[in-house]
Amino acid sequence: MWRASAIGVVFGALALAGASGAADAASGSTPSPIPLGASRYLESCGGCHGITGTSAKSEIPVLRDQVGRFVCTDEGRAYLVRLPNVAFAAMDDHTLAQAMNYMVFSLGGSSVPKGARPYSPQEVAALRQRPLKATDLASMRSSVLGRALAACQEQGR
Ligand code: HEC
Repeated sequence: MWRASAIGVVFGALALAGASGAADAASGSTPSPIPLGASRYLESCGGCHGITGTSAKSEIPVLRDQVGRFVCTDEGRAYLVRLPNVAFAAMDDHTLAQAMNYMVFSLGGSSVPKGARPYSPQEVAALRQRPLKATDLASMRSSVLGRALAACQEQGR
């Protein structure tokens, strides 16, 4: 009888070890409860944009409750991914899509239009192949954002 229960204990311990090993492997080298998109935003973008999307520096645009307005147009949606710091971020397409979705839908908060769809890895892959030039950004931003805001209003968003 004792043999059977000892075997049970050993098997139980192995099963536990296997399960925790698999969990570690799935979450990479730093197991954490933070979702992938949020953790990658924090690592790659938060240094400049602030962990809550608000930077103290005036030359860095505020994302919090603002950035969602861009996705009222396809052009604005594309602009966000084509920004040099985004297009060239050291992340694969899947991870970058998750970081973008965290940024737009979590940090964007009240600025996100109703019914906006998340970025897919395929969409991100195509857009980041056409990165914007840093020198074009200032003038481009105001026209892209102007058209997005008009579309947001028209759509009653
Ligand atoms: C080195 C600092 C820096 C890093 C890192 C950085 N950004 Fe930016 N970001 C900026 C600056 C500065 C601007 C203003 C436009 C420009 O000069 O690129 C900007 C503009 C933006 C905008 C446009 C917002 C608006 O209202 O015009 C978005 C969206 C954005 N960044 C997202 C990201 C994301 C996502 C990441 C991480 C993948 C990231 N940024 C990494 C500095 C940074």
